[in-house]
Amino acid sequence: MTHMLDQPIVYLNGSFVDKNKAFVSVMDRGFLFGDGIYEVFPSYSKHIFGLDLHLSRLQKGLKSIQIQNPYSLNEWKSIIHKVIELNLGDNNQAVYLQITRGCDRDRKHTYGDISPTVYVQSTGFDVRSKQELLKGAEVIIQDDIRWSQCNTKVTSLLPNIMYAQMAKNLEIEEVVLCRDGIVTECSSSNIFIVKNECLYTHPKGSYILPGITREVVMDCANACDIPVVEKEFSKNDLLEADEAWVTSSTREVVPITSVDGIKIGAGIVGEIWPLIYERYQEIKVKQ
Ligand code: PDD
Repeated sequence: MTHMLDQPIVYLNGSFVDKNKAFVSVMDRGFLFGDGIYEVFPSYSKHIFGLDLHLSRLQKGLKSIQIQNPYSLNEWKSIIHKVIELNLGDNNQAVYLQITRGCDRDRKHTYGDISPTVYVQSTGFDVRSKQELLKGAEVIIQDDIRWSQCNTKVTSLLPNIMYAQMAKNLEIEEVVLCRDGIVTECSSSNIFIVKNECLYTHPKGSYILPGITREVVMDCANACDIPVVEKEFSKNDLLEADEAWVTSSTREVVPITSVDGIKIGAGIVGEIWPLIYERYQEIKVKQ
């Protein structure tokens, strides 16, 4: 059944409830410490793109901070599908899922034997049209002051939200992060550059989140016979690139035409981006 809901239905610890009736305790370690893991799944007309890849990253994240995964793969899939089904006002849904370590009796850094808190919501998201994307987008560069376990999708996102807010206040697409002269990623997306018809992106490791969209974009490039190199590149490489794009589940692949006010390439969207864009649009509804 399709609902056009004023009040979204969310999943909290075993129940599907109105969002305004979903509460967690002040003793939840997510609230007190940001002690949890999250995922964002894009869904197009009920089809969740990259579902298994997102669930596998979720499992790795939980393991790395020693939270026992409370559900099996099939249980997760059925919860996520049901949340989408219950909120299907828009075709494109971004499912947000978070698992915190749970509630203890008192606030202390260490924890006892507690059960995780599980929360899932689904909200509509807008995908920009090709025409809109072809206008190009702006970014600025900032120092990457985050910790060195950026590959874990933890809910404690303070530096990321500061960068994201900076981008919002400046009315630009993203803040690109630079660690010791090397471009890592952005506040909530990965970054690619194109130089001489070859694609470059920061290698996986502790300085970037291994984005699912990043993975898909590399597959798209392979399918289009465009070489991809997972290799560090500098701020200068970015400024001298022919093309640059940022990628995430909810942004997809956004072409960047200016960095710190300096034009990238000719200052217009390049020739490789449309190839990747078209391929991405094809597979996001198929896979
Ligand atoms: N952000 N890097 C960071 C720091 C991110 O937060 C994200 C995603 C990505 C891209 O990952 P993916 O392609 O798997 O979406 C890279 C999500 C969308 C968020 O925090 O809302």
